[in-house]
Amino acid sequence: MTHPIHINQRVRENAENLTAALESHMLKVFAPDARKELRRFSAGEAADLLGISASFLRKLHFDNRIPEVHMTPGGRRHYTAGDLLEIRKVLEAGAKTPGTYLRGRREGDKVQVLSFLNFKGGSGKTTSSIHAAQRLALKGYRVLCVDIDPQASLTTLFGYRPEYDFLESGTIYDAIRYDEPLPLSQVIQQTFFTGIDLAPGGLMLQEFEHETPQALINNVQPAFFARMAAALAEVEANYDVIIFDCPPQLGYLTMSALCASTGILITIVPNMLDVASMSQFLQMSADLLDVVSNAGASMDFDFLRFLINRYEPNDGPQQQVVAFLRQLFDDEVMVAPMLKSTAISDAGLTQQTVYEVERSQFHRNTYDRALDSLNLVNDEIENLIQKAWGR
Ligand SMILES: Nc1ncnc2c1ncn2[C@@H]1O[C@H](COP(=O)(O)OP(=O)(O)OP(=O)(O)O)[C@@H](O)[C@H]1O
Ligand SMILES: [Mg+2]
Repeated sequence: MTHPIHINQRVRENAENLTAALESHMLKVFAPDARKELRRFSAGEAADLLGISASFLRKLHFDNRIPEVHMTPGGRRHYTAGDLLEIRKVLEAGAKTPGTYLRGRREGDKVQVLSFLNFKGGSGKTTSSIHAAQRLALKGYRVLCVDIDPQASLTTLFGYRPEYDFLESGTIYDAIRYDEPLPLSQVIQQTFFTGIDLAPGGLMLQEFEHETPQALINNVQPAFFARMAAALAEVEANYDVIIFDCPPQLGYLTMSALCASTGILITIVPNMLDVASMSQFLQMSADLLDVVSNAGASMDFDFLRFLINRYEPNDGPQQQVVAFLRQLFDDEVMVAPMLKSTAISDAGLTQQTVYEVERSQFHRNTYDRALDSLNLVNDEIENLIQKAWGR
């Protein structure tokens, strides 16, 4: 006779085994207790990011106009993201047109708040939001990432273990909770990535979904849709761009992020099932936004774009779906798609991005194709930001 299995017990056992396995995996991937560290960039990469030629970069060193950087035993210069920022400041100080090398916001420009969104799981919200954040940071923007997904994938990509580090406190939930919220500045963490701060996510965020109905009945102010914006107000002067990685659902958290946003990026995988589910998503979003708009939420966006992800240029049916989307949404579909690439998924296996891994770890073509595609996408996003600032 077989014994009945209690589902709760079995799930708990699985959870415990998985936690232990993940812990040992993390220890293998990263040295014990070591924080994640960003690699150095070659002179070619540095020149590219700075928007100058490699020879001009060499000349800056030769003329002693910029601080010396790490030298490999082979005599090659390698740059940290911090070095790049220092060089940017030097270049900007000598630039004829202000804002050539530090393109962040100026007096009168409002902070750009971008939400990566879709209720379809796995459409690439986290992947595109972290690559956008990193590219913008490498280009000298001051970025705050806000992880509002209880799954906390973004927080994990920054080298944290949400289930240990932020189990009971330390997530963005602390800053938006209804009873005794903390100032957001007390939640924000500096990350290993120069130029990016993080408001972590974690399971606690789920509380916000549970507590909001009662808070609405009690008329707690600010209401749910205004709480994210209210929390951001304290810190926004410190950033050029704030990026929300949304959960795959249209809950109160997502609505609150949307109401704080100036730009919306809807990630979409070009197949008919995903497009069909997006139609429901858009319908539901519109209905919900009507409700919060009637309740007094601000609904002013600078832009909304569809970001095509996992694009395979040689896949006929996909091309048809993309053509269909472009016909329908016109220039609301971003010009550059994010290619489907093993460089992106493989980097993800070690909790890294394409900007973090070394080119030598990958087949060259694979890496270059992924990098080019991500750069095009993110530079298009940068242009949208610049345009919103009237440049
Ligand atoms: N362009 C791509 N090419 C290859 N793999 C990709 C690509 N985009 C995303 N992935 C992989 O697909 C998985 C899901 O992506 P991601 O986590 O970004 O989706 P998501 O929309 O944030 O998911 P969720 O809804 O669960 O939050 C990840 O393992 C990621 O590495
Ligand atoms: Mg995600």
